[in-house]
Parts: sequence; C-alpha cells; structure tokens
Amino acid sequence: MRESDLPQVLEIERDAYPTPWTRSHFQFEIRDNAHAINLVLVTAGHVIGYVCCWRLGPELKINNVAVCRSRRGKGAGKVLLDGILRRARQLGCSEATLEVRPSNEAARRLYDRFGFRQVGVRPGYYQDTREDGLLLTLQFEE
Ligand SMILES: CC(C)(COP(=O)(O)OP(=O)(O)OC[C@H]1O[C@@H](n2cnc3c(N)ncnc32)[C@H](O)[C@@H]1OP(=O)(O)O)[C@@H](O)C(=O)NCCC(=O)NCCS
Repeated sequence: MRESDLPQVLEIERDAYPTPWTRSHFQFEIRDNAHAINLVLVTAGHVIGYVCCWRLGPELKINNVAVCRSRRGKGAGKVLLDGILRRARQLGCSEATLEVRPSNEAARRLYDRFGFRQVGVRPGYYQDTREDGLLLTLQFEE
C-alpha cells in the first residue's frame, strides 16, 4: 500500500465499516509505523481490497482487511489473507491473531477457511456497537 492508493482504499474503508479508519490513520501506518505491513490487491489498475497488519515479533496481528463491496464473494479476501500469511511465514512469524465481530459472518467464514480458531473473547471490544471481539489465532506449522 502506498499513499497514492489511499483515495481508493478510503472509498472501500468508508463503505465497509461503521467507524472507518481515517486518512491520517492509514498515513501513519504507511509512513511511521515500523511494525506495519500493508498490502493492496490490485485488479486492472484498481485497488479492490487491502489488509493492514503489524508484525510484533513472532506474531502477525491483522488489524484491517476489506474488499470493495462489488467484488466480494469472489475470492479476493482469500487472496489477501493468503498473501499476508505467506509474507508472515517468510518473515519468521509463528502465529497470526485478529479480532472479529460475532455478527460478521463473512469474515468469520473467511478466517475459518484458513484455520483460525477462537481462543478468547474481548468484552465490549468494539466501542461503536459495544459488540464483543472474538479473539482468533492461527498457529503456523513448522
Ligand atoms: C470479510 C471480507 C473481507 C471477505 O472478502 P471476500 O472477498 O468477500 O471473501 P472471499 O470471496 O474470499 O470468501 C471467503 C470465504 O468467506 C465466505 N463468504 C464471503 N462472503 C460471505 C457472506 N456474506 N456470508 C457468508 N460467507 C461469506 C465465502 O463463501 C468464502 O468461504 P468458502 O470458501 O467456504 O466459500 C469482506 O466481506 C469485507 O470486506 N467485509 C467488510 C469489512 C470486514 O468486515 N472486514 C473484516 C473485519 S474483521
């Protein structure tokens, strides 16, 4: 992800979430956060999805994954997740973690397909809807 991707990224982001990340949030991740790994999925010159993570030692923390609404359900989410998990393995990570809303069936299905398992609940994690956050992890095989 480059700053030049941000107009398309922000369009997807604002459509995807009740409390979207702001331009300055993405800029911080791109410019200033040494832990950040941010990937975009580009088709025919258009950003159709992205994933934003932090590499924290052996852990890949997935903070944001979204696909353009008109492109959902066609495997783009799987391509993004596959890409970031490959990168994490190459960097020597041993696990990936993330939080997901219990109501987010599409995301839960996506993570399930990669073998993520629920290991905990963070009560009231999502301040906008007061939903809990389900804590999922995936241990990478040797
Ligand atoms: C979650 C999201 C990234 C999935 O992207 P996608 O490109 O539609 O996902 P894929 O097409 O790769 O599908 C992945 C799996 O999820 C399933 N899936 C996709 N949309 C679904 C839906 N609405 N309901 C149930 N399952 C769904 C697919 O069937 C597939 O599983 P399968 O292989 O068993 O068929 C997308 O829905 C999105 O951007 N949502 C808004 C942002 C968001 O909620 N991000 C996650 C925050 S934790």
